[in-house]
Amino acid sequence: MRLPATTILVLAAILGDLAVAVPIQDSPRQRLLDGKPLPAKYRKNPPPPYTPEHRDPYDSAVDAIGEKLDPLPYRNGDGASVLGPWNRERARQNPDIVRPPSTDHGDMLNLRWSFADSHIRIEEGGWTRQTTVRELPASVELAGVNMRLDEGVIRELHWHKEAEWGYVLAGHVRVTAIDYEGGTFMDDLAKGDLWYFPPGVPHSLQGLGANGTEFLLIFDSGDFSEESTFLLTDWLAHTPRSVLSKNFHLPPEIFAHVPAAERYIFQGSRPSDSLRDEFPAGRHVKKSRQQFTHRLLAQPPKNTTGGRVRVVDSATNFPVSKTVAAAHVVIEPGALREMHWHPNADEWSLFLRGRARVTVFGAEGSARTFDYQPGDVGIVPKNMGHFVENVGDEEVEMLEIFRASEFRDFSLFQWLGETPRRMVADTLFQGDKEAGERFLKEIKDAKKDEVTMPPADDDDKDPGSMWDDL
Ligand SMILES: *[C@@H]1O[C@H](CO)[C@@H](O)[C@H](O)[C@H]1NC(C)=O
Ligand SMILES: *[C@@H]1O[C@H](CO)[C@@H](O)[C@H](O)[C@H]1NC(C)=O
Repeated sequence: MRLPATTILVLAAILGDLAVAVPIQDSPRQRLLDGKPLPAKYRKNPPPPYTPEHRDPYDSAVDAIGEKLDPLPYRNGDGASVLGPWNRERARQNPDIVRPPSTDHGDMLNLRWSFADSHIRIEEGGWTRQTTVRELPASVELAGVNMRLDEGVIRELHWHKEAEWGYVLAGHVRVTAIDYEGGTFMDDLAKGDLWYFPPGVPHSLQGLGANGTEFLLIFDSGDFSEESTFLLTDWLAHTPRSVLSKNFHLPPEIFAHVPAAERYIFQGSRPSDSLRDEFPAGRHVKKSRQQFTHRLLAQPPKNTTGGRVRVVDSATNFPVSKTVAAAHVVIEPGALREMHWHPNADEWSLFLRGRARVTVFGAEGSARTFDYQPGDVGIVPKNMGHFVENVGDEEVEMLEIFRASEFRDFSLFQWLGETPRRMVADTLFQGDKEAGERFLKEIKDAKKDEVTMPPADDDDKDPGSMWDDL
């Protein structure tokens, strides 16, 4: 049976954007145009994402990796297949770049980088790679370094003009330093512990235990380069031996075999398990009165409805860390790091577990969505609104790091709950009083809920499918 042209036009108008797509043999759209009923499978099982037939007016997240799907640029009937070269793994990692939500707009700068794309410098017993403003132009305030030191391997005695904040990702590490007053500091750290050395403070790191350690370093300037730190060996190699002789009150031959070039990362001897045994014995050695380390994961979390949050900053629990503040965040499957912004610093995040999507809102109608998985770095410039949505079936674990003395964020939910009701309703719901009432009821007692979980039984929150209505 054929429908009259006017009916086809009406159908096309109802389906809106479908009108221009090329008909596909026996596609749901073609069946509708031909006046045939939709196959039952489309009513029970809507067409999968990234197909011409798929519809989702709500821009729900799709876990392309978990669902083993190949993202293609089809959205609500628009788009087309790809004919040219195609990096399939890349597309799976960036489903919201391949098929952005319909709410994305504008030309916001790139805010994602994976450490997997950073050059690795390989040294004796270790390696290092960095994500700085050179890899990720938005990484202006902070630079990150990912470093691995096997058992006994040393990141040599050095200092730099930036402050250094470190977070242990795995294994065990011994840190040593002296403070501005000449006090000696030593500590052994494990996964979830961190350290902070102010600018110029000389220090060393050494991997402990069977597999040594791996950690993230953060420097409070995006320009930082791990290649240009001040190394003990480098300095001595570039100082006249006669001066070394005067400085250390020893004949110049003593320095005949000091390294001719920097050592940087190298295999050291096995240190004693006991910090006390290793503590320098000199008459003038004194213990530092500073606390340069902190046990972040040992800290009790703030439990939210959808996850856990631990904040560490100079203002509350880690005084020495004057220029770096951070939050360790766990987002349960189905939960959302709620819509919020940070007023005082850009966010530099490292994703440790799980898969997430983030939409960054940059004013003037601009918004762009990025996808993250373990090893990825994200930036959110200060004041830009954003959320982090867990799109997978395991917890998302991430670090949010800031060049600031204090962790600060504004919660959208809390703000609206603490704003005069009439102001909120007039702004958002002048066109729909009934919806406005429901909204006001929901936000009445709103408070900050950093990681929020929508109630399971609420049908309204299920994005649903437009196929139910056809
Ligand atoms: C060290 O790493 C190897 C794999 O590289 C692993 O099999 C072993 O269990 C690790 N040992 C410890 C003590 O973590
Ligand atoms: C948070 O939850 C954990 C268990 O999930 C519990 O042990 C802890 O006491 C809770 N913390 C607070 C502050 O309620």
